[in-house]
Amino acid sequence: MSFETETQTLDVAAAAAARRSIRVYRQEPIPREDLERIFEIVRLAPSAFNVQPWRFVVVTDPELKAKLGAAANGQKQVTGAPAVIVLYTDMKQVLDNVDDIMHPGIPADKRAAGAAGFRESWSQKTDAEREQWGASQGYIALGYLLLAASSLGYGTSPMLGFDPAKVKAALGLPSHVAVPALVAIGRPDEEGFTHHRHPVDRIVAYR
Ligand SMILES: Cc1cc2nc3c(=O)[nH]c(=O)nc-3n(C[C@H](O)[C@H](O)[C@H](O)COP(=O)(O)O)c2cc1C
Repeated sequence: MSFETETQTLDVAAAAAARRSIRVYRQEPIPREDLERIFEIVRLAPSAFNVQPWRFVVVTDPELKAKLGAAANGQKQVTGAPAVIVLYTDMKQVLDNVDDIMHPGIPADKRAAGAAGFRESWSQKTDAEREQWGASQGYIALGYLLLAASSLGYGTSPMLGFDPAKVKAALGLPSHVAVPALVAIGRPDEEGFTHHRHPVDRIVAYR
């Protein structure tokens, strides 16, 4: 087994090639500095209207991890990883702070009009519609997170197999938020499966 990647930073192509779902981890805490490097990359992810609805909770507390593990059908990587990142999205918070997402380079009057238009266009939607849309943006951040972690030699296991209500209850998150994914993260202690992917000519057409 080869884990040399952890001492160097991989470029995006190498990080994508190296990334596999990892479900067994070395029992080593993740330095805060590494998590901060990962989130500095993640925060640069793009989103429609620049909404950036993603929020992250990095869970290392064993009792909380046990609760998340129970919420995730006992998936072993949840309790076995040194940390589990809960990715949630909160469109209510976005809509309560629309000014924050307006680019400072836009003249003030246009920013105000843009913010008002944004609020208006979302006012007819239900909480469920908003949060479903917010979650779709959350998956962009998930992709960045998986690649960023891989670039620093970390293994990850993205998960959808969990009960969102139980995850929210464990962390005391508001009931309206969406939880696009849980991500176990740590130094790999297994190789994971080799890539099994469609060839490019099956997924791309040029016209
Ligand atoms: C959004 C998402 C949800 C996933 N949910 C789970 C999960 O709940 N449990 C699990 O073991 N793997 C889960 N996976 C892992 C996929 O099965 C895996 O990414 C896919 O088979 C490709 O394998 P690879 O990640 O090793 O390249 C999930 C992956 C993604 C992207």
